[in-house]
Amino acid sequence: MRQAINRKWVLARRPGASLRPDDFRFIESPVPPLGEGKAMVRNLWLSLDPTQILFAYEGSGENTIPIGGTMRCIASGQVVESKLPGFTPGDLVQGWLGWEDYTVIDGSPQLTPGLFPLTKIPPGVAPNLAVGALGLTGMAAYLGTMDVAKPKLGETFVVSSAAGGVGSLAGQIAKIYGSRVIGIAGGKERCDRVVSELGFDGAIDRRTEDIGARIDELCPGGIDVFFDNNALPSMMSVILARMRPRGRVVLCGATQYYMGEQSTGGLDHISVIMKRVRMEGVYANDSGDRFPEARKALRAWILEGKLKPVEDVIVGLENAPSALMRVFEGANFGKQLLKI
Ligand SMILES: NC(=O)c1ccc[n+]([C@@H]2O[C@H](COP(=O)([O-])OP(=O)(O)OC[C@H]3O[C@@H](n4cnc5c(N)ncnc54)[C@H](OP(=O)(O)O)[C@@H]3O)[C@@H](O)[C@H]2O)c1
Repeated sequence: MRQAINRKWVLARRPGASLRPDDFRFIESPVPPLGEGKAMVRNLWLSLDPTQILFAYEGSGENTIPIGGTMRCIASGQVVESKLPGFTPGDLVQGWLGWEDYTVIDGSPQLTPGLFPLTKIPPGVAPNLAVGALGLTGMAAYLGTMDVAKPKLGETFVVSSAAGGVGSLAGQIAKIYGSRVIGIAGGKERCDRVVSELGFDGAIDRRTEDIGARIDELCPGGIDVFFDNNALPSMMSVILARMRPRGRVVLCGATQYYMGEQSTGGLDHISVIMKRVRMEGVYANDSGDRFPEARKALRAWILEGKLKPVEDVIVGLENAPSALMRVFEGANFGKQLLKI
């Protein structure tokens, strides 16, 4: 019998100020025999998250990917062979797997320490949804919105990276609670789609429009909630100056920071103090105890047609680097996934 081949992307060098295709190398090797206490997962769907690039740099401790190491990401897959109690061929799983056809799991709840746990996908959940709207992306959108933003009827909710995975869900959840939702996204076409496809009440193109002037136009009474995924200092100061008293700011993502720009700028302390604004970070990775509740609510909203899990799907493992580059180019609409 012919031995199965594992195609995989390894880190060729530490990325510079922007990602390049030759930061990664595509290699093939035979799938080795499976050891006792291990199971082989055939990866199906990869989630391309801005955060995963952090592991390609030095400084992520035990999670730093060595040069020549397999690129890791949240993915879903199917167990194809098992010598691991509790896992049988056919089981669908999700967790930190890799940019490769096959990943060996050993039953540790977390292959990547401290991050999103490896779990079986509940029956009836599609493996793409499991790593998108019902994966870490959905968990961040749900926890940030429900725990920190606490959206209310008639309030004004502004979300950045509104065309992206987390932002598209957070804005839709706020709409379910009756808020008026304004999205900020890069590019006119993406802004148009945020309104026409996601049902947001307005959108601002952060690349070409004056954000302050557009907020004044679209949110004349001020902003109650700002759900931030970009961490752009210029955007934050414009927003903070327009917050209503007792407004809430959800610090969810810092995409500008991951590619080395790493400036959080000066905080508009006076606006935060005078308006008693509450700023709070959300970190879904370690909130596993809340995942069942979040998945139940998100799934119900999807089934009821209240929440649209928008996905941007690239097909083919060979395209993994370009799929990751799309999130840093702001080319994705919805959660960036790759179907192997
Ligand atoms: N806290 C948590 O627990 C948690 C969990 C999951 C994800 N996150 C974070 O949530 C954010 C969104 O994640 P996602 O997977 O849904 O990604 P995403 O929003 O689908 O994609 C990233 C978006 O970031 C924007 N962007 C690209 N380059 C940028 C730059 N240099 N500076 C600022 N913005 C840039 C682009 O949108 P625009 O051009 O339209 O702005 C792009 O579409 C990320 O920062 C991620 O790390 C946090």
